[in-house]
Amino acid sequence: STTVNVSPAVLAFTAVAKNLADVVTVPTGYNVTVLYRLGDPIAQGVAAFANNGSDTNFAQRAGDHHDGMSYFGLAASANTPDPSSSTRGLLVLNHENINQSYLHPNGPTGGSTARPEAEALKEIECHGVSVIEITRTNGTWAYNPTSALNRRFTPNTPMTFNGPVRGNAQLRTVYSPAGTDGRGTINNCANGTMPWNTYLTNEENWVGYFRRNTGDAAVRTANGLAKQNVSLARYGRSEVALTGTSGSPGGNYFWTTVTPSNATDTRFAKWNITASATGAADGTQDFRNEIFQYGWVVEIDPFDPASTPRKRTALGRMNHEGCQNGRMVAGVRPAFYMGDDAQNEYIYKFVSNTPWVAADATRTDRLAVGDKYLDAGTLYVAKLNADGSGQWLPLVFGQNGLTSGSSVYPFADQADVLINARLAADILGATRMDRPEWTAVNPVTGEMYCTLTNNSSRTPATTDAPNPRAYTDPKLPQGDVVNADPPTSSQATRGNANGHIIRLRETGDTTEATAFTWDIYAFGSGSDLDATNINISGLTADNDFSSPDGLWFGLPSNTTGQATPLMWIETDDGAYTDVTNCMLLASIPGTVGDGGTRTINNTLTTPANTTTRSTVQTRVGAAPGAKLKRFLVGPKECEITGIHSTPDGRSLFVNIQHPGENGGPANITSSWPYTQTGATTGSNRPRSATIVITRTDGGIVGV
Ligand code: FEO
Ligand code: CA
Ligand code: CA
Ligand code: CA
Repeated sequence: STTVNVSPAVLAFTAVAKNLADVVTVPTGYNVTVLYRLGDPIAQGVAAFANNGSDTNFAQRAGDHHDGMSYFGLAASANTPDPSSSTRGLLVLNHENINQSYLHPNGPTGGSTARPEAEALKEIECHGVSVIEITRTNGTWAYNPTSALNRRFTPNTPMTFNGPVRGNAQLRTVYSPAGTDGRGTINNCANGTMPWNTYLTNEENWVGYFRRNTGDAAVRTANGLAKQNVSLARYGRSEVALTGTSGSPGGNYFWTTVTPSNATDTRFAKWNITASATGAADGTQDFRNEIFQYGWVVEIDPFDPASTPRKRTALGRMNHEGCQNGRMVAGVRPAFYMGDDAQNEYIYKFVSNTPWVAADATRTDRLAVGDKYLDAGTLYVAKLNADGSGQWLPLVFGQNGLTSGSSVYPFADQADVLINARLAADILGATRMDRPEWTAVNPVTGEMYCTLTNNSSRTPATTDAPNPRAYTDPKLPQGDVVNADPPTSSQATRGNANGHIIRLRETGDTTEATAFTWDIYAFGSGSDLDATNINISGLTADNDFSSPDGLWFGLPSNTTGQATPLMWIETDDGAYTDVTNCMLLASIPGTVGDGGTRTINNTLTTPANTTTRSTVQTRVGAAPGAKLKRFLVGPKECEITGIHSTPDGRSLFVNIQHPGENGGPANITSSWPYTQTGATTGSNRPRSATIVITRTDGGIVGV
């Protein structure tokens, strides 16, 4: 790695003001370059992107909704890893979802009953993951549109299953009767950058893509699989009634309504998991088990374009958001930290059975290294106690009620526990959190941070020390589209509208620990809100934020010999967007326990008839103050997500997701990135894109 002299770190930039402009705003002295946009070609012969809804072949173009992202250095003249390279690399990034309307000339057609094949295929292929080669020449970054290393993964790309669930009965499908293989990955959110040069992508909101008609539960029950109905309910896939012949069949974007031109093409029908009464109970004659093929962490070797991604089932099935490793210490079993992003879900960690061997970082059989560390180990879920202590509870079949005799769910084996990690965590008594999004590990201290983005269903009665806020305030959420502003008297609470960031310190500072201490690093809030109960961290106009989501430790933390790490915080906010577009902040965090305890009153005075009152004492870190500053504000209707840098810290890559998401072809609400170079909003359709941020003087970004 590269050593740079930047200690002690200070945030040596002028904070960017909150704003609603349709551009990316960065501090004076910084430059923004748009690098890789929705529709950009990644193979020879692919036409330039017209961006008028006519484009096709997205399996050879950038997808939509850029999300988690990692930079991997490439050798100067070989397609092999060079972790020290800051001028040539592979950028790997997720395409989480789509702005459906802008992908077609006049929005989608076919309604909810007869989507055209070409439109659906385009939408499917806009999901997934990109690998692109990028180079810095004479100071300017560009991607190579014809690199042999460029690759797209889509919801149709073949993948294999690894770990305890491989070959399980519930993975058997038409595509893979043996339950060992599957097609595709979808709704990929956040990432993991493995020390052995692979990329982890995480399947988050996959449930909504599946159609499940009324009658499915009865067939599963008749087949002796009533427990699958318990599982489907816990993961949020209810039956949807068909209302006559033209009713809504359910499933995001209605892909199951396509009549394929090739009758044997099952790429559309597979999203309908309704069990056929005449299909085999083992799932090999219909698509009932496809839903169990999703919800996993997927490992990709970006350096081998011929490699097949591996779904790492040992890490459990959930709405995966991020999978970041803890510190890698030779001879110690490594840990991988994960959020399950849904309201009142849990924080998990996976601890490998295999102690770390440093030489594995440079092996060329990278997915085999993944097999070594990610296929066997213990999945734990977090229980956070009011006194600031906590336990990692193991999800192990046969222990602590995870048995076939459970009244919640009759587990058959460890594979069943992993497929139904949420049900197992329920039984163990884990702590329900305010939507755990990204995890990040401070490489200096080993402390793990996790964004808890918000939780509108948190009530004063269900607050606890780690999720202590549920409040109503007339100033907040400004611009909230769900609730009235100011709130009506019937709105007793908007829950945790602004989110917070929690951090854990493992007992003994080891990834193998089964206990930890925790506190809250920062509470999101408008700077003008109640200083005692909402703006607990004392945020100011220079650093107030809402709904933290992306989280990443960059330089100088990953630089040899540096004692002060820099943490980057990205927002995805629905509560503060009439004041400012989403943002990126830089912070210099302290350590767990550097604050104190605070008592929070969960019920503020407006509206006056709010009657439920409770107080929660929680542990808070030192107020961020000057150690937290707003670095960037994005364009209209975007979220800021995906972040990584070159090893020299001089190029920071950031993803701008879904600018203009509330508009469409007839109502263009953002024209970013065209506006970044002077175009007027309204003329061009917006595009999700990767940007690269550099300093005019060539220095390290942020310090
Ligand atoms: Fe895809 Fe929870 O963000
Ligand atoms: Ca998103
Ligand atoms: Ca997210
Ligand atoms: Ca989010």
